[in-house]
Amino acid sequence: MGWLSAVSAAVVLVLLLRDFISCEDPYRFFTWNVTYGDVYPLGFKQQGILINGQFPGPTIESVTNDNVIIHVFNNLDEPFLISWNGLQQRRNSWQDGVWGTNCPIPPGRNFTYTLQVKDQIGSYFYFPSLAFHKAAGGYGGIKIASRSVIPVPFPPPAEDYTILAGDWFNQSHNDLKAILDSGHNLPFPDSLLINGRGRNGYVFTVEHGKTYRFRISNVGLTTSINFRIQGHKMVLVEVEGTHTLQNTYDSLDIHLGQSYSVLVTADQPPQDYYIAASTRFTPQVLTATSVLRYSNSQKSVSGPPPGGPTIEIDWSINQARSLRRNLTASGPRPNPQGSYHYGLINTTRTIRLANSAPIINGKQRYAVNGVSFIPADTPLKLADYFNIPGVFTLNSIPESPTGAGAHLQSSVLAVEYRGYAEFVFENYEDTLQSWHVDGHHFFVVGMDWGEWTPASRFTYNLRDTISRSTVQVYPKSWTAVYMPLDNAGMWNVRSQDWVRQYLGQQFYLRIASPANSWRDENPIPSNALLCGRAAGLKIKLL
Ligand SMILES: *[C@@H]1O[C@H](CO)[C@@H](O)[C@H](O)[C@H]1NC(C)=O
Ligand SMILES: *[C@@H]1O[C@H](CO)[C@@H](O)[C@H](O)[C@H]1NC(C)=O
Ligand SMILES: *[C@@H]1O[C@H](CO)[C@@H](O)[C@H](O)[C@H]1NC(C)=O
Ligand SMILES: *[C@@H]1O[C@H](CO)[C@@H](O)[C@H](O)[C@H]1NC(C)=O
Ligand SMILES: *[C@@H]1O[C@H](CO)[C@@H](O)[C@H](O)[C@H]1NC(C)=O
Repeated sequence: MGWLSAVSAAVVLVLLLRDFISCEDPYRFFTWNVTYGDVYPLGFKQQGILINGQFPGPTIESVTNDNVIIHVFNNLDEPFLISWNGLQQRRNSWQDGVWGTNCPIPPGRNFTYTLQVKDQIGSYFYFPSLAFHKAAGGYGGIKIASRSVIPVPFPPPAEDYTILAGDWFNQSHNDLKAILDSGHNLPFPDSLLINGRGRNGYVFTVEHGKTYRFRISNVGLTTSINFRIQGHKMVLVEVEGTHTLQNTYDSLDIHLGQSYSVLVTADQPPQDYYIAASTRFTPQVLTATSVLRYSNSQKSVSGPPPGGPTIEIDWSINQARSLRRNLTASGPRPNPQGSYHYGLINTTRTIRLANSAPIINGKQRYAVNGVSFIPADTPLKLADYFNIPGVFTLNSIPESPTGAGAHLQSSVLAVEYRGYAEFVFENYEDTLQSWHVDGHHFFVVGMDWGEWTPASRFTYNLRDTISRSTVQVYPKSWTAVYMPLDNAGMWNVRSQDWVRQYLGQQFYLRIASPANSWRDENPIPSNALLCGRAAGLKIKLL
């Protein structure tokens, strides 16, 4: 890898000289070789997307405010991008790695992401965002630790484990994509995986009497999961960057794209225990297990894994409502999380988003407010920067449900910089939804059965709810969030259900600073790839 490091050093030097990045904060460098490789999660050979030969990929370990520089070499035979689920990337949607912000890295080429985990702590993950690559792996954990001067509301754990769990299919990502392209839905998944392995394929070793942190993300494609550890309690400490009230749970529902941190004390007789994840709200229940092994274990796992809730929705809503922010604990900064009074700020705008499942031109699609998203020929962010007409139209998606039929569109909603929005996710379907906003976190002020009305606001939690970047909406229910619009850029709002996302349940939120100043948004990076109608255009260097 000697030549590689040399190339990396050169690239970084160029970036440092040319680009606006915060120079006082530490740097972490990663070089990732993305390849196809054989994986055997279910005992037979499948095509996986590996990062440096690994599935799942390496974990990004970082500390608040670190600059994270990632050189990605695309050695697949098709275009590729990685995105960062839950990273705020302040002022920097240029690095978001989704179709609307970045040109794909062509096969055989490389791209350097320049991220900063500014003012963030917590547990997240990265994943491949194009086509249906996520079905082949290519994902990994992201940890952002607190700076050493910031008090953390629990003692340091003996070990900090990442768990990436989710559904998995027998078929390759290309076959799954072909099914969707032909206008059909996917079959039910074939299995769940925990850290890329099927049944008992992964072992976490613990010592009796010690306490461990587990950061669990649902990296799956289509199903919510329930997560539990046989014979052990889980103390919830963090949800997507919020330090929570430390409630104790026997099991946790984790919806698509969500991340949770729990503390688990190894206080049971020394033996092996099942760690179980099973599908939630599905007619058929799939379960994956891994093993919690005491270092002096006297007995291996046997018998059925512990059961959990399967179709109960009230149970899940009640658990969701029990998630609270610890108002006196610190977040990324020393001041307590309760010092930001999210519930006392007047909202400047209400945006209501309803999902639907229309058939368009004879094909299954998914839509938001009657618009099913399709990519244009040029990333929206580049079209915006170079003023290329005809790629997208501002407000090509209405800000409330229309009730009319759906159409295809590269939809962009414009919102005012530094506004404070109320988003209401309205679900008239009988399936569970999971919604995500890139580059932001939002306060989950309410969720309930039935239709949202202005009177629903009287039920909001305006005091101590959590903030996060992915939230579920139960069947025939609504979820409301408050979101500061303080991050200028072009940001993807999407279903975390990968079928729905792929077939159009997403759009972009354009937050433009009227000042057009570097203080509000980073300039285009000098290494930006240019494609579509932006190919060959000149980036004005600084
Ligand atoms: C990436 O891995 C492939 C397959 O192992 C290898 O052929 C290639 O040289 C590697 N590239 C880099 C940049 O390390
Ligand atoms: C990485 O990409 C840059 C252009 O973006 C190119 O100059 C460089 O040669 C590439 N490095 C390798 C090892 O392919
Ligand atoms: C909240 O955080 C404070 C400050 O770190 C801590 O002392 C307290 O135990 C936490 N409370 C709960 C209920 O988690
Ligand atoms: C997936 O593969 C496994 C192992 O070969 C097999 O048992 C299972 O039936 C397959 N599922 C489907 C839907 O073909
Ligand atoms: C919010 O709006 C109310 C009524 O319009 C006003 O009285 C109040 O001062 C506003 N609060 C803030 C924090 O701007």
